[in-house]
Amino acid sequence: MTGPSTARDSRRQLLAHAPPELLAGPLHRLGEGIGKIVYASPHWVVKRERSPNEIMALIVIWKAVRGVQSVLPAVAARFPLQHASHRIRLLRLATQGVVSLLPRTWWYTTHAWEVLKQYHRASRRGERLAELHLEGTMLVPETVEFPPVRVQVSGWPGHLTVSEATERVEADLFRHLSRLARHGLFEEVELWLNRLLELRRTGWSQGVFSVDSHLKNYGVIGNRVVLLDAGGLTNRWADIERRLAFEDNVELPHVVLGLGPMLKKRPDIAGRFNARWKETVNEETVREQWPG
Ligand SMILES: Nc1ncnc2c1ncn2[C@@H]1O[C@H](COP(=O)(O)OP(=O)(O)O)[C@@H](O)[C@H]1O
Ligand SMILES: [Mg+2]
Repeated sequence: MTGPSTARDSRRQLLAHAPPELLAGPLHRLGEGIGKIVYASPHWVVKRERSPNEIMALIVIWKAVRGVQSVLPAVAARFPLQHASHRIRLLRLATQGVVSLLPRTWWYTTHAWEVLKQYHRASRRGERLAELHLEGTMLVPETVEFPPVRVQVSGWPGHLTVSEATERVEADLFRHLSRLARHGLFEEVELWLNRLLELRRTGWSQGVFSVDSHLKNYGVIGNRVVLLDAGGLTNRWADIERRLAFEDNVELPHVVLGLGPMLKKRPDIAGRFNARWKETVNEETVREQWPG
């Protein structure tokens, strides 16, 4: 099987002006993760970095749910941090209120602060690696740069100053698969899951590995899967080995990816996918692909 092309068709484009559609009215909130909120116009997205307090609030919630996880795995498997929901947003706002009331010096001593520092470090490293190895390839959406402009966004804070935009994907991979499954197009679901594995392999052959490979961090453009979130990228074998050790203990990768309910009626597809995942996401295969 041949993987997605890694040919560089262009370096990051520098534009004289921001794409006009970014200025044509408030941009709606399209998605969010731990570190960013993403707003969209028809063809482009722009990102707002969350403040440290905002991220800290999410980490505190995440840790609380992880505490519950050992008791109630089914609840935690469906925890919507990566499937952002209204309720989580309210919970985050409430927690953020508490976070901002407590003194920084107290937070410095907590595990949540350690997690926040690690998150920032990993996210900077990932972005640097993406710039070095992935930008301008078919593995990621295109990014353009332009002189800073102020754009209107729906909801708080109402506006944002941006100097780069990223090609908007048709859907993140989780949403895309859900839609296909709803229409009973399970052969397509399987095809896209294979494409995800191929993309991962191709990434490894470029010397990058994502330790944050959940389905909302990938998107769909035409017949390609692309990586949306550079935050989890690493080239350090210590990180990779830690992640692969975790993978070794996962019995049903499709459940960890949140595909349990979707593939309930198609255990055959789940079974084939899990076998392929196991064959692919392991130290031997990653080392085989790794450059040098
Ligand atoms: N280019 C894009 N097109 C469409 N949606 C996107 C794009 N980039 C990100 N998103 C959506 O926004 C979410 C958050 O973006 P991401 O970069 O993953 O932020 P974080 O680092 O906070 O996880 C993604 O999971 C995805 O659903
Ligand atoms: Mg993400």
